Amino acid sequence: MNRFLAGWSEPRTLRKTLGALFLLSFASVSPARDLTGNWVARNPLPDGTSRDTYLDLKQEGSRVTGHIRATQYYYNIVESSGGPDSFVLTGSMMDGHNERRVTYEIKLAGDELLVRTRRRPDSELIQMTARPAPPGEGALPQRLPLPQLHPVPSNGLARTPPMGWNSWNKFAGRVDDAAVRAMADAMVANGMKDSGYVYVNIDDTWQGSRDAAGNMVPNKKFPDMKALADYVHSKGLKIGIYSSPGPNTCAGYEGSYGHEDQDAKTYAAWGMDYLKYDWCGARNLYADEEMQPVYQKMGDALLKSGRPMVLSLCQYGRAEVWKWGTAVGGNAWRTTGDIRDSWDSMTKIGFDQDELAPYAGPGHWNDPDMLEVGNGGMTEDEYRVHMTLWAILAAPLLAGNDLREMSPAIAAILLNREVIAIDQDPDGRQGRRVSKSGDLEIWARPLAGGAQALALFNRSALPAEMTVDWRDLGLTSPPRKLRDLWAHTDLKPEGDKFTRTVPSHGVVVVRIGN
Ligand code: GLA
Repeated sequence: MNRFLAGWSEPRTLRKTLGALFLLSFASVSPARDLTGNWVARNPLPDGTSRDTYLDLKQEGSRVTGHIRATQYYYNIVESSGGPDSFVLTGSMMDGHNERRVTYEIKLAGDELLVRTRRRPDSELIQMTARPAPPGEGALPQRLPLPQLHPVPSNGLARTPPMGWNSWNKFAGRVDDAAVRAMADAMVANGMKDSGYVYVNIDDTWQGSRDAAGNMVPNKKFPDMKALADYVHSKGLKIGIYSSPGPNTCAGYEGSYGHEDQDAKTYAAWGMDYLKYDWCGARNLYADEEMQPVYQKMGDALLKSGRPMVLSLCQYGRAEVWKWGTAVGGNAWRTTGDIRDSWDSMTKIGFDQDELAPYAGPGHWNDPDMLEVGNGGMTEDEYRVHMTLWAILAAPLLAGNDLREMSPAIAAILLNREVIAIDQDPDGRQGRRVSKSGDLEIWARPLAGGAQALALFNRSALPAEMTVDWRDLGLTSPPRKLRDLWAHTDLKPEGDKFTRTVPSHGVVVVRIGN
């Protein structure tokens, strides 16, 4: 027996066993059941939705072909082995230019299929039971034709990078109505609102299903979206929501595919102010090169809804989105894959943004992903690097931590108004790397009125003395005003150069006035 197929725990009841025996006794007169057919394994979630895996299979002898759809994952079966009633199937799907493969172990047990798989080769084994489903149920919808390209007029929003909070980094699938209200309360109480954080953004996992008219209905975690938006607005804040241009989101929830206008109207009716629109499930229907017309549909739909809503594109920086993000009505576009709460992830993303600087400006921003400040995976110095670098990059500042339980040190990082002022500079010019020597990087950002922000980043494991020649910043004489934005002190510029000792995994950032 194949090593995958050993040790099945079979949830069969006596009734089913008897049923199978009954069938067996007729084996000579009725053809043996094989895998051919449409099968579904349902996994109901506490929010009232269910994650369903459909296996649409065709068995010919020991060969099995067909498709497996686990919500946002749609695999073509490319290899099968085993038999007569136990198989190992290999599924393949394209995610942009990358192939993703998965193995499913299948065992026919009477009128059920026992199915085992792993999301990734190193993750835990998931076991499920699939039962016959009507033909066609769960099939991937038809590919809809794409619109002609045209420039979507600007919505006039996000003149400076959006600031606020987003649920994903801390809460992921646990976000609910109460959490969103609590974050809005915290943003008012802890001074974030007064420091410029405005948007309270609900990420993935709020969706239920569509009603008979095709309108989106939230799941049990969000009993009344309009009331929630009213609450957030009553605090002087704005509220955001999340969807996908595909049939499913990254977490497998319902996407906006084929319902763009209808969903935009629904968001407007609820009072939404911001939409994060995440590619994920669209990859099964469209190539990366088709992202522009796909995103344009929602850019148009939001404008048509009549309510001003920030449009944040989330497609992981593929297809050179910075070149067309503005044309589809995007106010920001992700430039990278997902951030994690680690020094490696944050620095790999943040220090890789230099060349994208020319594409940012008022109304349209490069987005190196949301903040992890306060989530526990980095030191305070490292979080200061995170906050400073995002400000130099003119990045959206969307906090991603639990705002109810912030230490004073974390609050001081997120609420550093002098660093926030760099991020929110009205000229909206993204900063760039001035020099790099090993793990030591010097970045500068031009600010309104001829001022500059200068950041000395030490990515090394030891403290380092770092020096900048004022001439490297285009200054012909030492600046008249210099202020350290983490120490909150004025400095006295002396001589042609500026030298500071920068802690390991730390930063010194100064504002250079004139
Ligand atoms: C993708 C996005 C994340 C988050 C999740 C939600 O991974 O890049 O920011 O929205 O989906 O499922």
